[in-house]
Amino acid sequence: MHNAAFAALGLDWRYLAFEVDPKNLRAAIEGAKAMNFAGLNLTVPHKLLAVKMVDALDGSAKKWGAVNTIRFEVQSPKSKVQSSRPAEIHAVGFNTDADAIVTSLREDLKMELRGAKVLLLGAGGAGRTAALKLASEKVAELFLVNRTRSKAEKIAREIKNQFPSVKVAVGYPKGNVDLILNATSLGLKADDASPLDDKQFSLKQTRAVYDMIYRPAETKLLTAAKAAGCKTANGLGMLLHQGAKAFEIWTGQPAPLDVMRKALESAVQSPKSKA
Ligand code: ATR
Repeated sequence: MHNAAFAALGLDWRYLAFEVDPKNLRAAIEGAKAMNFAGLNLTVPHKLLAVKMVDALDGSAKKWGAVNTIRFEVQSPKSKVQSSRPAEIHAVGFNTDADAIVTSLREDLKMELRGAKVLLLGAGGAGRTAALKLASEKVAELFLVNRTRSKAEKIAREIKNQFPSVKVAVGYPKGNVDLILNATSLGLKADDASPLDDKQFSLKQTRAVYDMIYRPAETKLLTAAKAAGCKTANGLGMLLHQGAKAFEIWTGQPAPLDVMRKALESAVQSPKSKA
């Protein structure tokens, strides 16, 4: 989607994917800096590690405690003495994931989050960011379910401290909710179990289901949700919007969203590519 966007705006830039072992992350960031890269995206398992490896954090990265985007910035010399030296480049960390969740929920499910009741499945990196972002959007009630209960409990404590007006509980709700959000990795593989325990909670008890997984485009959870009459969306919109925001951070230009969406859809549908 980035290469399609660069082409659409006539920018002679390239977006490339590199697989980096976590033990080499610092060297990879410094290497990209030394080679005058404009910026980087990072994904699992680098987002938390990178927080300690950049020279400065944007407010978004500080707020969500994770970096998924880096911009290399030329620092203007502060004094005449320094100006005789080569310009220094700083790696600045941003987070574009959190806003993308909310943009996609609004766009793809027409979901108004303020006052909503949400059942969130998963308390890993993606689950934590989603939980805190939803709380910051003033959802009324948040129910957190995770295989490892202690991780959900830790997030619930964070929310109680930071967003005292939001009611937060660990475990399945008794009544209905407006939205179920899957932030677990269950559904990526064809033989995965459903992330929702249907003995504890029925899809009839929600209006909408969002699955952060976008490949497969329709997980078993989404198929079942459609059959139960729920509004559904997969994580493609989230992927699109975090990318669009990163594009704007690097280029300073508005992202050509339609071009990016089309490129993303064809990349995700193609069996060979790794979107
Ligand atoms: P991400 O950054 O994508 O959130 P992660 O931090 O590894 O990745 O989180 C994966 C999430 O999927 C977690 O909520 C994880 O549950 P645990 O916290 O108990 O590990 C959940 N998950 C992964 N495999 C699972 C499985 N087989 N059954 C239930 N939950 C699973």
